[in-house]
Amino acid sequence: MSKLLKSYDMNGTLLANRVLMAPMTRSRARDTVPDARTALYYRQRAGAGLIVTEGSQISIEGTGYLFTPGIHTPEQIRGWQAVTKGVHEEGGKIFIQIWHVGRISHVSLQENGVAPVSSVDAPAKGYTCFAYDEQGQPGPIPVSTPRALTKDDIARVTEDFVTAAKNSIEAGFDGIEIHGANGYLFEQFINAGCNTRTDEYGGNTMNRLRFVLDAVDAMSEAIGSSRVGIRLAPYGRLHDMHSFDGEENTWLTLAQKLSEKNLAYVHLSDQESLCNIDPTVAAIPKDFVRKFRNVYKGTLVIAGSLTQKTAEELVNSGVADLAGFGRPFISNPDLVERFRNNWPLAPFDPATFYGGGDEGYIDYLPYRESVDNEA
Ligand SMILES: Cc1cc2nc3c(=O)[nH]c(=O)nc-3n(C[C@H](O)[C@H](O)[C@H](O)COP(=O)(O)O)c2cc1C
Repeated sequence: MSKLLKSYDMNGTLLANRVLMAPMTRSRARDTVPDARTALYYRQRAGAGLIVTEGSQISIEGTGYLFTPGIHTPEQIRGWQAVTKGVHEEGGKIFIQIWHVGRISHVSLQENGVAPVSSVDAPAKGYTCFAYDEQGQPGPIPVSTPRALTKDDIARVTEDFVTAAKNSIEAGFDGIEIHGANGYLFEQFINAGCNTRTDEYGGNTMNRLRFVLDAVDAMSEAIGSSRVGIRLAPYGRLHDMHSFDGEENTWLTLAQKLSEKNLAYVHLSDQESLCNIDPTVAAIPKDFVRKFRNVYKGTLVIAGSLTQKTAEELVNSGVADLAGFGRPFISNPDLVERFRNNWPLAPFDPATFYGGGDEGYIDYLPYRESVDNEA
């Protein structure tokens, strides 16, 4: 049997295989509460070795998009309880991605219309979030100018993350994935192109890593480090992140620090597909992934434009322990079974990725049923 399809002990969480369903925002939580359709969507995909849910905001302040679920109210926790129950009944494992968007937000999404927050008071130029426009229609609108977090604010946001982590365990998740990728709050501190602070949260590498490393420790203390994973996007350019001096050193220092923390995993997100850049160029340089692997000793997940073949190569060569798949999981709820049996994959439809109803969400069939229907 291919190594990709073999079970894996992820620091105490036993996964049936090494295929991870990558976090994907589907924008179908009308009132930020996961509902019965959400539960069915994840239950259908429980054949993944590990599901990581869509990004779920830790607070109103952390919200950047209408219709994304949260993990900060009793209703949201109850909604997620139905999700985790369904996945566990099918024998799957599920982590929740917890999210603070930082400056990728708009005053209309914030409590009392205040400014969103970030490391600095500069907006992400040219980027939109998803909110109601002046006509009351939901849609992409330019992000607002943020307010730079004070030291007290940073302590408060860290506490919000800790509360969200505890809520996640109450909701029945096997663990959490901290969203440290894609130009959201933590990356707004890590990236020296964005973070121009002059206090102990800006400037040198350790200062820029301080917030995320302290937050990882605080959450680990609250729920146990083996239930904490983190997603990073080294060399990521999404949401106005730019290259900066010492970029490789920043990510490798983070790898080394995280390696000491006995986490569930570190998850590298290759933004190639997201950035819509030249498809021959991977956003994470290939030699960098090997360097990261050499420094980070725990479970390493890699995601972004993988196929069964490239995933097997990554896992067989030891560069990654788990392989993350995003879009293929949308249209192939039984992706792992398809891999196992060499069945063809159903194409995904970007038109139904975000928002809308059942179509493109819970109506994709497992291979066998789709064949039976055709017969
Ligand atoms: C519809 C959609 C929503 C996404 N939402 C998230 C998200 O909430 N959090 C995140 O870290 N990445 C998100 N991503 C990125 C995916 O996790 C993944 O890294 C990306 O799709 C590349 O993998 P793939 O080529 O296998 O699809 C999203 C991608 C898609 C297509």
